Amino acid sequence: MSKTTQETSTSPAAPVPGTPEPLLRAEHLVAGYIPGVNILNDCSIEVAQGELVGIIGPNGAGKSTLLKALFGLVNVREGRVMLEGKEITNRKANVLVEQGVGFVPQTNNVFPSLTIEENLRMGVFLRPKTFDRRFEFIADLFPTLAERRSQRAGSMSGGERQMVAMARALMMKPSVLLLDEPSAGLSPVRQDETFLRTRMINKSGVSIIMVEQNARRCLQICDRAYVLDQGRDAYTGTGRQLMNDPKVISLYLGTLAEDEKAAKTARVDAAAEASAAADAASAAATATTPPSTTPPSAPASSPTPQDR
Ligand SMILES: Nc1ncnc2c1ncn2[C@@H]1O[C@H](COP(=O)(O)OP(=O)(O)O)[C@@H](O)[C@H]1O
Ligand SMILES: [Mg+2]
Repeated sequence: MSKTTQETSTSPAAPVPGTPEPLLRAEHLVAGYIPGVNILNDCSIEVAQGELVGIIGPNGAGKSTLLKALFGLVNVREGRVMLEGKEITNRKANVLVEQGVGFVPQTNNVFPSLTIEENLRMGVFLRPKTFDRRFEFIADLFPTLAERRSQRAGSMSGGERQMVAMARALMMKPSVLLLDEPSAGLSPVRQDETFLRTRMINKSGVSIIMVEQNARRCLQICDRAYVLDQGRDAYTGTGRQLMNDPKVISLYLGTLAEDEKAAKTARVDAAAEASAAADAASAAATATTPPSTTPPSAPASSPTPQDR
């Protein structure tokens, strides 16, 4: 891999002789839903054994479509998908699961009326005898799930459900896991947990392709990343290279920079408010008024409605 961020328009997807075959490679994919309308337009990505690869890009760029195309859920019209050097283009999802590909969709990724244990059993229904052994592995990674195995998934918070969805995909011992926006809809604290967990899963030996809307956090934890734009892999590099590339910042992380500016302003405003409140409180105290019974306001990281 080049030491600098690459604009990928001219980079060949063909394997370079003498370099090890990546675990999963998508070459020049063209794919879409409606006949004649291509969502992926010559999209090439790869993940090496043990790598955590991020996919970022604007809304509608085709990130989810790319994962679905890799997992046989969207028809690939041109190009090919290779797993350990063998072609798996347009294989059905159940076959891909058997071959070591796991997929966690962004939404509707658990069976809410089933318990955690039943959800995990569904994950391994192709090999029910391996349940106990895999459950031990899952319990090591996610002790909470083991402790609460009889709880119904539908009664869990958004962050916990995401954990169940990841655990279910891991039950089949995938060599590569495809994650679609695992942090979406979670509070900042739960997002951090999700990123940590993703890294832990990766460290346990599972290669990962993670699509993320939280571009900064994604680039911080991944080994390499791709910026997807209009169905193409527009840029690639390490997370750090992409984060510091002026072109990538101005074209794709612009809103990120604005978000950060807004967050900084909000912090300054909050500090000013806190200081004004402190002034008011000390003025009130010196005026011998009774202490206020107003409870303290919720912390900025209080759970979102999806993340009870
Ligand atoms: N099931 C579908 N049928 C038709 N078009 C779809 C479908 N899903 C997504 N699209 C279209 O594909 C494009 C890319 O969507 P998607 O891959 O979900 O983008 P991203 O995940 O990057 O936000 C969008 O224009 C979207 O409207
Ligand atoms: Mg998406």
